[in-house]
Amino acid sequence: MPRPGLPDPYRKRARAEGYVARAAYKLKEIDERYRLFKEGQRVLDLGCSPGSWLQYIASRIGPTGLLVGVDLTPPVIEMAPPLYFVPGEVESLDLETVTAISPDFDVVLSDLSPKTTGTQEVDQQRSLALALAAWEWAKKLLKPGGHFLVKVFEGPDSPVLAALLKKAFSRCRRVKPAGSRPASPEIYFLGLNYRAMPLKGKR
Ligand SMILES: C[S@@+](CC[C@H](N)C(=O)[O-])C[C@H]1O[C@@H](n2cnc3c(N)ncnc32)[C@H](O)[C@@H]1O
Repeated sequence: MPRPGLPDPYRKRARAEGYVARAAYKLKEIDERYRLFKEGQRVLDLGCSPGSWLQYIASRIGPTGLLVGVDLTPPVIEMAPPLYFVPGEVESLDLETVTAISPDFDVVLSDLSPKTTGTQEVDQQRSLALALAAWEWAKKLLKPGGHFLVKVFEGPDSPVLAALLKKAFSRCRRVKPAGSRPASPEIYFLGLNYRAMPLKGKR
């Protein structure tokens, strides 16, 4: 993390490499470690704007893949098939709006962030609520064997989410990528290999 007043190397690199946000490097690092993406996959990106994760994922899944981004505000990058943008709030958006584009996904991601208030407990609760909303989407749309990556502001209740994921995936990891500012409360939970259907009704 640069000292105040010094340029952020991730920001500088993002500008040089054409990413619309430095966040791309967090996903890149996680992907390089856990191999989340393959050519031709279908990916759902919740909280996708301004769009640096979309840019990175598109480069990994290629033209035979399909990528759907959901956000309150539109991405600043060009969205043309196989990239689709669905405007809306993850808590209230109709499932059919997304399933009309793809009935299921190989990978579901959430980089959703609440508007911060400065009160740690409130921000943690809001972030956890968004992460749990993302988990509801993943339960409905993730293919067996698929992966789920979700951001949460770590707090006393975040183990609740970790416990849910432990039951539903073969492997779970808590990840703090180097591109995530050390001072930021954000961490990512990663679920690898979504277990097959029988557990579905019980989750
Ligand atoms: C940190 S940004 C995501 C950055 C993105 N991964 C990228 O690489 O460009 C978080 C996003 O979550 C979105 N967001 C926050 N609450 C939301 C909600 N309830 N429904 C949909 N999107 C939401 C915000 O609008 C914001 O664009």
